Amino acid sequence: MKHGEFTFTMIKPTAVKLGKVVPILHEIDLAGFSVIAMKMTRLSRAQAERFYLVHKDRPFYSELVDFMSSGPVLAAVLQKENAVEDFRNLIGNTNPESADLGTIRKKFAKSVQENAIHGSDSDENALIEANFFFSQFEIFPH
Ligand code: CMP
Repeated sequence: MKHGEFTFTMIKPTAVKLGKVVPILHEIDLAGFSVIAMKMTRLSRAQAERFYLVHKDRPFYSELVDFMSSGPVLAAVLQKENAVEDFRNLIGNTNPESADLGTIRKKFAKSVQENAIHGSDSDENALIEANFFFSQFEIFPH
């Protein structure tokens, strides 16, 4: 995978439960991203704690870990030029109330915690997060 040309995403438990996987993937496709790895899985509490370790001192950490391990998620690696920034623009602000019209979070998020979808915030984290969910044999860059 080429640095800068991929990002990691995860459709969160509420959005999966509400049947929004396909509608959200449709938006991602229309925005020009291609799926180079994908799986539906459920995080254990310990895995969710590890994935969100950077937030361990935040007041919402424990609730976030409970939420993210409450049901299946859809994890994927997406390829596109300028993937991290373009994907963050596509999903919109963490808080759906502040997200721009037309963004995925504006359309599908329930709250700042149950905000439908995750997107990596840097190229470095995209690599760490992709490697958290996928082995090198499960990612198929173009
Ligand atoms: P995400 O982009 O996955 O990164 C960290 C997550 O923490 C974020 O999306 C939200 O799900 C959650 N989060 C961020 N801020 C808050 C908050 N103020 N209250 C509750 N959850 C939050």
